[in-house]
This record gives sequence, C-alpha cells and structure tokens, in this order.
Amino acid sequence: MKPVAPPQTYRVKSFGCQMNVYDGERMAELLGARGIVPAPEGEDADLVILNTCHIREKAAEKVYSDIGRLVFAGKQAGKPPLIAVAGCVAQAEGEEIMKRAPAVSIVVGPQAYHRLPEMLEKAAKGERATDTEMPAIAKFDALPARAKRGPTAFLTVQEGCDKFCTYCVVPYTRGAEIARPFKGLIAEAERLVEAGAKEIMLLGQNVNAWAGEDDKGRRVGLAGLIHTLAKIDGLERIRYTTSHPNDMEDALIAAHGEVDKLMPYLHLPVQSGSDRVLKAMNRQHTADSYLKIIEKFRAVRPDIAIAGDFIVGFPGETEAEFEDTLRIVDEVRYAACFSFKYSPRPGTPAATMENQIAPEEMANRLQRLQSRLAEQQYAFNQASVGKTCKVLVERTGRDPGQWLGKSPWLQSVHFEGDHAIGDLVEVTLAEAGPVSLRGVVPAPV
Ligand code: SAH
Ligand code: SF4
Ligand code: F3S
Repeated sequence: MKPVAPPQTYRVKSFGCQMNVYDGERMAELLGARGIVPAPEGEDADLVILNTCHIREKAAEKVYSDIGRLVFAGKQAGKPPLIAVAGCVAQAEGEEIMKRAPAVSIVVGPQAYHRLPEMLEKAAKGERATDTEMPAIAKFDALPARAKRGPTAFLTVQEGCDKFCTYCVVPYTRGAEIARPFKGLIAEAERLVEAGAKEIMLLGQNVNAWAGEDDKGRRVGLAGLIHTLAKIDGLERIRYTTSHPNDMEDALIAAHGEVDKLMPYLHLPVQSGSDRVLKAMNRQHTADSYLKIIEKFRAVRPDIAIAGDFIVGFPGETEAEFEDTLRIVDEVRYAACFSFKYSPRPGTPAATMENQIAPEEMANRLQRLQSRLAEQQYAFNQASVGKTCKVLVERTGRDPGQWLGKSPWLQSVHFEGDHAIGDLVEVTLAEAGPVSLRGVVPAPV
C-alpha cells in the first residue's frame, strides 16, 4: 500500500447490537482526542470504520459489498479513504478480510480498538495492520474521556459470553465474560451525566452476569451497581440490557421495587418455548424456569414491560415445538420483541446439526410469530392509554412543534409543546398505535 496523509476526517458505521454502538462511540472519541473530526454530512471521510456484526447470515458479505462501494466512491472522487474493519466480523474473519479485500488497511477486533491510533500511524505509512487480540479489560483503561452525547447514554459494564448457546458466535467474537470494575463504571457514569446524559443504559451481552466489589469492598451484582448509580445527581433513569435467565439474581428483581430511577422494563430473551429445543440450544434453562422469573418481576413491578428475543427454525424444530413458542408468547404477553430466523453460523455446533429447517418453513413460522408479537405490542400500548408518565425527549418529531421520546416502558411517544431535547416531560398517553403512542401534556392546574 502507498503511504497516505494522516486522516483528518472520519466516519464510523456501526451495525449490530448496542454494544457495537457503544464501541463505535468510543472509537469516535479516540479519534477526536487525536484531532480527527467527523466528516461533514454528505462528504467523503478520509477514514471509514466499518464496525461490523457477525450474529446472523450474510454479515460478512455485507462488509465486502460495503468495502466495494467505498473503493468505487473513492476512485470517483480521486481520493480513496483509509478503510478499517472493526467489530465482530473483524474478530471472526480478520485474516480472510485482509486476503480478500486489499483496500482494507486496518482490521481491529472489539477488544483491541484502543490501539487504533497506533494502527492508523502504520496505515498512514502504507503498512496494513491487524489486531484481534483480547486483552480482557485493558481497552477501557486506555480510552479517553466521554464526549457529549444525547440524553440517553450507553455504558458497557460487562462483555463477552461463556454460555456457548449452540447457534451463537458471540463467545467467539467477544471472548470470555469479563466485568468492568465498579469504580471505573461509576466514574464513567458521572462523566456521562456531566456531559448531559439523563438516562444510562447499562450494556452487556449478559449484563446481569456483572459482579464486582463496591466502594466498601463488598461483593455486589448488577443490583448493587444500580443502587449506587441511582445516587448520582442529575441521572434520572437507569436501564440495562440484555439479561440472561440463568444470571438472574433476586436482588436485581427486588431493585425494581426499590429504585425509582430503575425503569420498569426487562429484556429477557427466551429464544424458544420448547424444552427440547432449549436443550439443543444449550440454553440451560427451561420454559418454566423462564416463566417463574417473569412472575417474580411482575410480583415486584406489576406494570413491567417484558421484551424478548426468539429464534424460529432451529435445527430439528418441529411444528409442535414451534407452537410451544407461540404458547409461551401468549403466557408472557410481551411489550416488544426481536425475532429471527435461525441462521447457521460458521464454527458453531448448530451449523452442522442434522434436520436444518427449510427456508420457506422458517419464513412461515417467523411470520406467524411476528404477527402474534405485533398483536401483543399493540395490546400493551392500548393498555397504557390513560396513564400519565414522564417521557424523556430524544429528538424533534416530523411536524413542527412535535417531540419524540420514550416512556418508562420504552415505548416511543410523540407529543407537542414548548420543550427541548433532554427534557423529562409529564405526558398523558392519549392514543395508542402499533409501535408508538400519542401523548398530551396536561394543562397546568
Ligand atoms: N446474550 C443475549 C443475546 C445476544 S445475541 C442472550 O443470550 O439472550 C442477540 C440475539 O440474536 C439472540 O438473543 C438471538 O435471538 C439472536 N441470535 C443469535 N444467534 C443467532 C443465530 N445464529 N440465528 C438467529 N438468531 C440468532
Ligand atoms: Fe449468544 Fe447464548 Fe451468549 Fe447470548 S448467552 S450471547 S445467545 S451464547
Ligand atoms: Fe453482532 Fe457482535 Fe453484537 S456479533 S450482535 S455486534 S456482539
């Protein structure tokens, strides 16, 4: 590769989960600390970071076509950008990317991006650089201070996964479970609030597996962290995602009845309602043990919104087993969900299992599941009508004077009035749609 002038502008494109979004923000801050600025809207950037996801099909293909597009646009403009591939595809297929895509200068895994500045120096000299090491916790210590963001901030508290569900790439792309130390998390949360955050979303592939020692040296779980975060002045709301049923501690359930700032929302994936399928998935929980957890949450917080993830068409899933999934959906009555067709991932045990389900059958099951989930979401929204709650304003709406924000139950709410982004506005939920609600600000008395 030819040496190039060090980049002055960047663009980060993040795909996949919120943890990737968090990583994308931190990479941007890292570049910002070196004087590299975001490319203005509509203009080409000197450096493009593709922050990739590997969770489902064709993720890698998408990266190659994105690279192709960038090379083409660069040729047209007479100035090819430096291309860096980050994230989970970089981790899983780093060498392959370097071989197949000569235009890529940097391949950096999700645990190594704090070393991006050194890699950029190499790249500017015309050398290609790959770093997919997993130095546990080092990344967070090496990152610069948090920059100003919107009213909702992400905070990764836990990374990686030791669960090895048979369909999933995360244990391979993100490595073993690690928990960031308590002190650093409180400090980062305080910085985020100083920078304007009203709400913090705690993130982890298994966020409720987080554990550490609090400021008094006591061993605490996620609930302990939340109790301490709740004391930060100016922080109004705390959320966490994604939880795993097997890491659920009673203290976290109890926290929903004790901490006002903890929002009444739980994202707890079940994946399937069939115990045989759950076993083949290596989920290590049953449909029943999952339902018991939901019951406990509802005992503490009857209004809690429950969200989940589902996979249809896992190898060998019969029609009757799929119907078990529909049954658990009916029992739980979800507020919002994510559902996917099973996607065989290279290197995972399920990819080579017998009885892979035909694509048409998967599509049929997904459609049936999603229509059931959509009904439930609509019903949940309808049941909220008449409630008065605080909405955190995130952005302006389509019409002038319209604002968009989130209810405590993470529903999108639009309403009108004289407000600003970051305001917590008391709103009466007046009308429900399938995926959002219209709110009205009550007249002052
Ligand atoms: N740690 C979380 C989920 C992380 S991945 C948990 O265990 O619940 C996010 C979601 O992607 C999963 O919940 C699952 O529903 C989906 N997913 C993961 N691997 C998949 C695959 N191979 N095919 C289809 N969906 C998948
Ligand atoms: Fe993947 Fe299972 Fe780990 Fe979730 S718990 S990240 S689905 S292996
Ligand atoms: Fe995707 Fe990696 Fe997240 S595979 S879902 S970006 S952990």
